[in-house]
Amino acid sequence: MPKNLVVIGAQWGDEGKGKIVDLLTERVGAVARFQGGHNAGHTLVIDGAKTVLSLIPSGILHPGVQCVIGNGVVVSLEALFREADMLVQRGIQVYDRLKVSPNCPVILPSHIALDRARERAQGVNAIGTTGRGIGPAYEDKVARRAVRLADLMQRERLAARLGEILDFHNFVLSRYFSAETVDFQRTLDQLVAQAERIEPLLADVSVLLRNEMKRGTNLMFEGAQGALLDVDVGTYPFVTSSNTIAGEAAVGTGLGPRDINAVLGIVKAYTTRVGAGPFPTELFDETGEHLSRVGHEFGAVTGRPRRCGWFDAVAMRRAVMHNSLSSLGVTKLDVMDGLDTLRICTGYRIDGEIRDEPPLLPHRFSECVPVYEEHKGWTEPTHGITDFSKLPTNARSYLARMEELAGVPIDIVSTGPDRAQTIVLRHPYD
Ligand code: GDP
Ligand code: IMO
Ligand code: MG
Repeated sequence: MPKNLVVIGAQWGDEGKGKIVDLLTERVGAVARFQGGHNAGHTLVIDGAKTVLSLIPSGILHPGVQCVIGNGVVVSLEALFREADMLVQRGIQVYDRLKVSPNCPVILPSHIALDRARERAQGVNAIGTTGRGIGPAYEDKVARRAVRLADLMQRERLAARLGEILDFHNFVLSRYFSAETVDFQRTLDQLVAQAERIEPLLADVSVLLRNEMKRGTNLMFEGAQGALLDVDVGTYPFVTSSNTIAGEAAVGTGLGPRDINAVLGIVKAYTTRVGAGPFPTELFDETGEHLSRVGHEFGAVTGRPRRCGWFDAVAMRRAVMHNSLSSLGVTKLDVMDGLDTLRICTGYRIDGEIRDEPPLLPHRFSECVPVYEEHKGWTEPTHGITDFSKLPTNARSYLARMEELAGVPIDIVSTGPDRAQTIVLRHPYD
């Protein structure tokens, strides 16, 4: 029986989803992105060569695998072609293997202007978005005024829709934010030029994926961001503007919930977060500095330093629930090498009580004091180890405890950025 697997980030993003999706692509016929946009930055390292992808599925480096951008993704055509051309220059076939849903909303230059103007206006309350126009593009989708890729195929309809939406955006930009407006004719000309290039890539992705299933091939759905950045169940308002949890894999490709068979949640052996918002286990000490330095914790998209902290099992249990995780992939174990003592947060203390669930009222997050249990670290390097039995005993105990707290098994342990630096305990497609 073919199997369809969703791979999602189970923390606040940058868990190493791209690396794991690339690794597992050897077993699938197609890989689909289903939400987010080029706010994502997924890093793949193969034999030392690094590739960063934002919009194109992380399966693209495997020749012959179909790559799909589903209706749930907001598409910047500029970012899409830049990324595709970068890959083509490196000898990777993209244009005959990539299909994009005509239902995808287009990210316009005015969305970027609005995203940035709003962040500027928020001052200290800014979310710390990636500034890619993601939020405003999703707002327009829900408001039913988006320009979708399909609209690009009819020039007159495009001009009309663009005219309406830019009128509105420019009103807000100039009158509300006192920001520069976006030129209609320039935007239209740009879209018309891009329309010619995108047309051959448009396809009914739901039908395409269904046909792949009929052929008996496995599918993979590649999440972007992380469960705690989900617009519904994440740390609102410090979230992204899409649903990042596993259920969206069906919604964002136009398949049904019964088309998903398993969900792999990717977590780091510790925690990071980029941008503002609650982060109970955040560290401001030498250990935080160690994680940042050894883990090279700088955003793949914006280069911003990522905040670092201990592993948070309260947050992980939430992610297990929201995504019906069937198993875990634990990354960056090697980054913990050399730390004397490791901590895992098992509860939050609030109002003098210890709870194993986050506070119901998100604004109370900042009052939570994490409750930790301590684990002995290891001195032997785990970097690059591919055999579980070769891991130091304390590393194995730490992983066993993560597994116990999650209540789901660990399938994969990653010990370095390279595709080869991985321990597969149980292949998620078996
Ligand atoms: P994604 O957004 O979830 O795909 O993750 P990113 O690519 O944004 O960030 C993960 C970073 O950690 C990248 O620089 C990866 O190359 C790197 N990485 C992934 N797995 C490991 C690992 O096991 N060990 C180390 N040291 N680095 C890793
Ligand atoms: P990947 O797929 C980490 C964060 C931003 C900001 C918030 C909202 O690489 O894991 P947005 O631009 O989406 O409106 O920003 O979400 N964010 C990410 N953080 N990894 C990502 O993607 C992210 N995409 C968005 O930093 O806090
Ligand atoms: Mg990333």
